[in-house]
Amino acid sequence: MADTKVYRASTTAPVNIAVVKYWGKRDPKLNLPTNSSLSVTLSQADLRTLTTASCSSSYTDGDSLTLNGEASDVSGARTQACFRELRSRRAALEAVDTSLPKLSAMPVKLVSENNFPTAAGLASSAAGFAALVKAIALLYELPDSPSELSLVARQGSGSACRSLFGGYVAWRMGDKDDGSDSKAELIAPAEHWPEMRALILVASAAKKGVSSTSGMQQTVATSGLFQQRISKVVPANMAAMEEAVKGRDFAKFAEVTMRESNSFHATCADTYPPIFYMNDISKAAIRAVEAINAKAGKTIAAYTFDAGPNCVVYYLEENASTILGTFYPVLAEVTGWKEGTAGIKSAVEIDGSLVSTLKEGISRVIMTGVGEGPIKTEEYLIDENGQAVKR
Ligand code: DP6
Repeated sequence: MADTKVYRASTTAPVNIAVVKYWGKRDPKLNLPTNSSLSVTLSQADLRTLTTASCSSSYTDGDSLTLNGEASDVSGARTQACFRELRSRRAALEAVDTSLPKLSAMPVKLVSENNFPTAAGLASSAAGFAALVKAIALLYELPDSPSELSLVARQGSGSACRSLFGGYVAWRMGDKDDGSDSKAELIAPAEHWPEMRALILVASAAKKGVSSTSGMQQTVATSGLFQQRISKVVPANMAAMEEAVKGRDFAKFAEVTMRESNSFHATCADTYPPIFYMNDISKAAIRAVEAINAKAGKTIAAYTFDAGPNCVVYYLEENASTILGTFYPVLAEVTGWKEGTAGIKSAVEIDGSLVSTLKEGISRVIMTGVGEGPIKTEEYLIDENGQAVKR
């Protein structure tokens, strides 16, 4: 009898925010980077993608993906590369053990949801591709380690390879042409340094002006400064950052994080024509972090920016009252502020004009911290009959 069973598996996957930035591809097709990078995985209590992958020979429409309730295109080269890689790994298992159901030949149906609003203005491709790859790997019962799966997720979106792990994660650029050594590896799990917090100041929820993919290509092609960054600056920052994380040295972690963000945005400004991701609100957030550190007499907060104006401030739980207190005039008025958050008394006074710029420009905040990698779950977005679950 033909096998018409619906097979399914579900996972969640986290967002990560880099403290040593990936910017530049040496091979755009395989998503091979020009430099290594390092990130902090953020807690899935606040930011995560939940994905159910299923397959069945009864699916008649080919492969499909529903994202936040809307049909999403799966014909793009990156999604196709992930499907192809995972299918070939499953097919290899089926070839060895012929009693296994032939899942590799069945259409795949994916349903995926973020627990954060699109209005959070966060690039969700990292969590999205990490969840897609992990969910299909679970469905196919692949024995691959997170590092091996990161090779696949990387082909969906570079930064996604780092979301296969929790905690503090490096993406080693590798040097092989086939990309087989360009993968993520764990530097330290979340428990190693669980006090790490992240305050995300959402300055814009709009889709970015210049996408990361195209922005980094322009930088590679036109920036002279970029050569210095990939050959000298990043290798030194990677080494310093690994040491800072391993030694739980926040001052060092913070300095490298800020220098890295500045260096990355400097290469954007050195791109011809220049790319500007930060705006006046971003710059006000930098000034506020500088005021906090000046007042503390040591570095207790670090800013970082990706390909957009939103600011991520890293700090340790022990300094929460100072950091949140300083931003309190802004936080108290926006969505996402967690009422009852301890100690907002010892605020550092920041310049009134900074406060008004931040108040006007920031619409939402996300208060979160370091967290775990993908988690297999029994929560399904596709029912036993293969239908998307109504939510
Ligand atoms: C600035 O991973 O979004 O966030 O590989 O083209 O999908 P693609 O790019 P993407 O780039 C992220 C760039 C960054 C820095 C980082 O996350 O390391």
